[in-house]
Amino acid sequence: MSNRVVLITGAARGLGAVVARRFHEAGYKVALADIAIEAAQALARELSKDESSACAIKLDVASKADFEAARDALLERWGAIDALINNAGASKVVPAMEITAEQFDQVIDINLRSVLFGCQVFGQHFANRGAGRIVNIASLAGQNGGSATGAHYAAAKGGAITLTKVFARDLAAHGVTVNAISPGPLDLPIVHESVPAEKLEKVIAGIPVGKLGSAAYIADVAVLLASADAYFANGACWDVNGGLYMR
Ligand SMILES: NC(=O)c1ccc[n+]([C@@H]2O[C@H](COP(=O)([O-])OP(=O)(O)OC[C@H]3O[C@@H](n4cnc5c(N)ncnc54)[C@H](O)[C@@H]3O)[C@@H](O)[C@H]2O)c1
Repeated sequence: MSNRVVLITGAARGLGAVVARRFHEAGYKVALADIAIEAAQALARELSKDESSACAIKLDVASKADFEAARDALLERWGAIDALINNAGASKVVPAMEITAEQFDQVIDINLRSVLFGCQVFGQHFANRGAGRIVNIASLAGQNGGSATGAHYAAAKGGAITLTKVFARDLAAHGVTVNAISPGPLDLPIVHESVPAEKLEKVIAGIPVGKLGSAAYIADVAVLLASADAYFANGACWDVNGGLYMR
């Protein structure tokens, strides 16, 4: 057991749930933070019946106060926090010309304010203790301007990659690293729910490796970047996209 502690946002389902399982398997104590608290609680109890090594925390990533409360609750519970995975994200696809102010703000809140507040609150805490790891889950859309998931989402994810660099530079001297992972389309429920089967076939045919990505592999990359000896990986955007975007 590594005895390290990680908080993962959006851990109730999808990629966040896979990431939570992987960190738990790697010996971490895992805090599953989500607005969907019941699903997060169910997974936490599945991972740790007595909640000694997994717990659920109600957290809306658009709220800085929620990040502060989560930090305090975890410090009280387990005495330390080693890593934050800013994973929560969402989008509602709307043609670029039709995105309203409300839709834009909502998508920016969930995908970009989330990263700002997570990095501010946990970055400061990690800097004060002289060690910490932050991993931001970005997206291929934020790199290539792909609008299949919405222009607001692509813009927010591009912003998340930029914030990764800003915090990576500011916090590096304090023992804190900040990296992004930028997945292409993954074999996850949201992809099958939101893309009609016929369209999905075309998407897959356009991916050089000919398959959707594995969430478990993204989770492995997050575990790698969160490890104590990962100090030299900093400010990077780790592309895992099947060859859809090469640079
Ligand atoms: N699925 C993909 O193919 C793919 C590709 C690239 C990037 N990503 C990114 O991976 C991350 C996870 O995506 P997913 O596919 O698992 O999505 P998902 O919709 O299946 O899960 C998202 C989770 O975030 C939670 N959430 C939503 N709003 C929240 C809020 N305001 N506060 C706290 N939690 C909130 C949801 O309750 C849910 O548990 C996102 O950042 C997404 O942009 C996904």
